[in-house]
Amino acid sequence: MQLYLDHNASTPVDERVAEAMLASMAMPGNPSSTHGFGREVRARIDRARQQVADLVGVQPMQVYFTSGGTEANNLALHVATQRQAAGRIAVSAIEHPSVLEPAAALTVRGWQMDMLAVDSAGRVTGKTLEAQMRQNTRLVSIMSANNETGVVQNVAALAKQIRAAGAVLHTDAVQMAGKMHLNFEASGAHLMSLSAHKIYGPKGVGALIVDKSLELVPMLAGGGQEKGIRAGTENVPGIVGFGLAAELAADGLAEHNARQHRLRSRLETGLARYPEVKIFARDAERLPNTVQLAIAGIEGETLLMQLDRVGIAVSSGSACASGSNEPSHVLLAMGVEPELARGAVRISFGRETGEQDIDRLLTALGEQIQWIQKAGQVAGW
Ligand SMILES: Cc1ncc(COP(=O)(O)O)c(C=O)c1O
Repeated sequence: MQLYLDHNASTPVDERVAEAMLASMAMPGNPSSTHGFGREVRARIDRARQQVADLVGVQPMQVYFTSGGTEANNLALHVATQRQAAGRIAVSAIEHPSVLEPAAALTVRGWQMDMLAVDSAGRVTGKTLEAQMRQNTRLVSIMSANNETGVVQNVAALAKQIRAAGAVLHTDAVQMAGKMHLNFEASGAHLMSLSAHKIYGPKGVGALIVDKSLELVPMLAGGGQEKGIRAGTENVPGIVGFGLAAELAADGLAEHNARQHRLRSRLETGLARYPEVKIFARDAERLPNTVQLAIAGIEGETLLMQLDRVGIAVSSGSACASGSNEPSHVLLAMGVEPELARGAVRISFGRETGEQDIDRLLTALGEQIQWIQKAGQVAGW
């Protein structure tokens, strides 16, 4: 049996979500049409907007649907910089490429980009922020939780400093949503990105949550959908699926969170007997479903393939970056030696992961370690 332990890359669509999506696919109406068919579809979108709003504690009018987390991140940087004179944008060094790349692209328009350093546990500290923010820093982007290490940032505390300096804060909460309690107001952010396929919803739909005080600027011009900010006939099944996925995530949050803590501690306790295993950012607050580790003497890609051979799917670094042999920029930013960083694999559990799955993974990892030890003896290491 295949064992899927790569939920930070993507989750399966919940059966109830798939059913709701299928039903909405059969509906002919365009949500912009005023006849009954159109109104029926519009009502489904309104409901989904409420469900997503409830997941993060905002009003539905603050939710803008997008084609995913990547677009939400691009839109966030767009709305926060379009109407402003060029200044500085500060982004943490461990951001997802969908923040790093649009931030770098802003430099073409005269913006200057500062990389916020992280400490050895992968966190942006208040001190770093104070030292690295300049008078004309107008936008700061710091993710809520990292996709590779699972490390959680203290966004609320950093937000106080950023707001006091008069800058706008964007947080990419794509990995935090559905795994830990997440509240927009409490985060202190002005902009927050979400994605459906990380919370048992469909791929290709996400949302940007926006503070009411912000003046928005369209990224896609056209028929005026999403209050003119993101034109294009809405992805109705996707949005409906995202809405229900958000509701289910909120309902099951406490239970899943507690279960995943137990699974993580079973895995990490099981690994404690192997001195060659390094768990990254082990002592930092992390997403309960995420463990990033390296085994000394084995490349991450090799370990991934060895596990794949026995039917266990994990990831080396982030899905987008894997395939390249470059060590993870997240681990390098944390000061991890490139050689050890090249060994990194990420294990991320989901709702369907059980104790027997963790035990199977432990056995498979144990076999790999034994194999390396034997190879070392033969080679006389
Ligand atoms: C932290 C983070 N931000 C953004 C994204 C992009 O989201 P999407 O795949 O919906 O474009 C991902 C996906 O891997 C992610 O992990």
